[in-house]
Amino acid sequence: MQMNTPIARNAIDENRQGLIGKSVDRVDGRLKVMGLAPYAHEVQLSRPVGGQPLNEPSSEQAAYGFIVEATIARGTLTLIDTSAAERAPGVLLVMTYKNAPRQGTWGPLKAKDRFARACPQLANNRVAYYGQAVAFVVAQSFEQARSAARLVKTNYEVQNGEYELAAYLNKAEKPEDQPDQKTDSLVGNFATGFAQAAVQIDATYTTPCHIHAQMEPHASLAYWKDGHLTIHCAAQLLESAQNAVANTLLIAPSQVRIVSRYIGGGFGGKLPVYGDVMLSAMASRQLGRPVKTALTRQQMFHFTTHRSDTIQRLRLGASADGKLTAIAHETWSHSARMDDFAEMAGLQTRTLYAAPNRMTTHRVVKLDLPISDSTRAPGEAVGMLALEQAMDELAEKLGLDPIELRLRNEPSMDPELNIPFSSRNLVACLREGAQRFGWSRRNTKPNQTTEGRWWLGMGMAAATRSNLLMPSKCVVSLDSQGLLTVQMAMTDIGTGSYTVLTQVAAEMLGLPMMQVRMELGDSDLPPTPGSGGSWGAASAGSGLFDACTNLREKLARKLGVKLTDARFEGGRITGNGRSESLGVLAGPTGLQASGEIKPGSMTKKFSQQAYGAHFAEVAVDRDTGEIRLRRMLGVFAAGRILNQKTAQSQAMGAMIWGIGSALHEDAVIDKRHGCFVNHDLAEYHVASHADVPNVEAHFLDEIDDKTNPLKIKGVGELGICGAGAAVANAVYNACGVRIRDFPLTLDKVLAGLEKASPA
Ligand code: MOS
Repeated sequence: MQMNTPIARNAIDENRQGLIGKSVDRVDGRLKVMGLAPYAHEVQLSRPVGGQPLNEPSSEQAAYGFIVEATIARGTLTLIDTSAAERAPGVLLVMTYKNAPRQGTWGPLKAKDRFARACPQLANNRVAYYGQAVAFVVAQSFEQARSAARLVKTNYEVQNGEYELAAYLNKAEKPEDQPDQKTDSLVGNFATGFAQAAVQIDATYTTPCHIHAQMEPHASLAYWKDGHLTIHCAAQLLESAQNAVANTLLIAPSQVRIVSRYIGGGFGGKLPVYGDVMLSAMASRQLGRPVKTALTRQQMFHFTTHRSDTIQRLRLGASADGKLTAIAHETWSHSARMDDFAEMAGLQTRTLYAAPNRMTTHRVVKLDLPISDSTRAPGEAVGMLALEQAMDELAEKLGLDPIELRLRNEPSMDPELNIPFSSRNLVACLREGAQRFGWSRRNTKPNQTTEGRWWLGMGMAAATRSNLLMPSKCVVSLDSQGLLTVQMAMTDIGTGSYTVLTQVAAEMLGLPMMQVRMELGDSDLPPTPGSGGSWGAASAGSGLFDACTNLREKLARKLGVKLTDARFEGGRITGNGRSESLGVLAGPTGLQASGEIKPGSMTKKFSQQAYGAHFAEVAVDRDTGEIRLRRMLGVFAAGRILNQKTAQSQAMGAMIWGIGSALHEDAVIDKRHGCFVNHDLAEYHVASHADVPNVEAHFLDEIDDKTNPLKIKGVGELGICGAGAAVANAVYNACGVRIRDFPLTLDKVLAGLEKASPA
């Protein structure tokens, strides 16, 4: 089916079994706590994975690879001596640019699918970024490989590189327009509108590099059989990974199978696959034996992607009564010199508030840094740190409550696309959030609410995130026992795909959830867009919906009733006075149906966004500048919620990212050597338990019949959007110090306090 019309009432709306929306526990939870849901590195070829037979043609013991990384950011390898490493115990192979097999060339940069590009390893003696692979050591054990890796001797001719965004703004380039996303936007006349505005804000915000910090580090296990390559790895997008491997190894995609049954967090860092995958595959072919490679946490900082740092200039012009007349959001971010990624921080600014004169721009400065790419809510996560803090600054200047300012600038149509919203409940989120949080108790002036040494403050911010739908296919098979098997190359990156898809399938066929078997995480299965961009549940779920609809039709036909007269309940189909169990109807040969979803005109006719409102309360120590979050609350409107529990966990996790981006996260670039200084989780601080006291997420009832047949919207990335700005606004409300340079650390608070009242 294609999304060309709004969706009429369907079986998901009817929800006869009540499975849709229910707080169902993870169906893979038991396997996870029993250690039966292995991540790529834990896969043992001789053992089944999570109850699913692996069907592996190999049960050989894997050899282990370890990557030797460049210790310079730019230059040439003048010497690489592997002789000592080759003589080390257990070593089977040492690969360098001198003996690596021929591979595809990097890119192309303008590929339709960025994550399917060739990503050659050890291709030549050039070093383009710190941490790039310069050698690959394979040994009988991981310890032997790692130990031998230290024996590889290198010399470099170092070239000067450029490592600092702010220093090279004069070299900024305009990235090319994407088919569905222009680099810049211009409506009305911003310059005039802004110049004539009664009240103006002109502020520049900066955000640092972020890393994904997934729980599961990247790893891969590769082996060959009869010219076919199987790779177990952590990949959000199986089809992209399959093509990336084929393009790199110069083989056909049909020769490559990617298996990612269980993944411990993605956040965009597993949209691409990296050199560990390519090196494992090449070494395995050469050795005729499975090869397993894991990245250390420290290697991940340079060897996988990160979020670019940004400089964002926000200009807001408003009339004295708080109507925005002009909005400009200009973003500069870095990209690796060898790549072209742009952090599109201004995208949500194009749609969130009404204003006749508007401008957004994005510019990229190429630096000699490791590759940056999508990191949870790429663009908007940091874009809304700036926009939503600028809105707070404007509210203060206008003497308006920040919620009231947002209410006065609520658009009736998408302000840049000039099309209606499919559904938009920002106002309801703001109202419900304010009421639940106790916003009316907020003191409008800073430095007024005290508790001992602490100043207390409250802040809020809006949230919005685009809703996406991608083409997706699915096959469902019913056997004579009434057991339904669902197959698709979807991934569960820890979000709950297995669970919500089981709910959808069981609800559609009127089966108990125990009667549904979900097969995901294998590129041999029908293609889906995988997990990314918060499109996973909508896309894979809609393909599944279509397949189940087709199976329902087949079953109804077998029973001799019209589908509209049939009821699917308790493992039976009933209608026209007849009733039969699904297993009996499926018969000894079983019954199969396929389905697919394609995006259609609904995407172009309606602006599709999810919304939310964040509220935060913080305490700031008046002597030390220490910031402690006291509590946080979010209310979201994101279409139908398939599972209260998994959706709430998504939203809370995202809000915690917001806390981290406001207060802690900062991948510090060494501006002399072009590497990340704090490249481990001890020094790159993500919000931990002690930083996260009380976080609540609530969802409003919303059904959006224009998004997809499930009438859902993406929830994954919504919760991070604006979350950090609510914290920053609360810090200002507490202590009167406005910090525009993220993260908000105590040294910056102290500097602000000293400026406000010099000793
Ligand atoms: Mo997301 S940053 O598309 O995994």
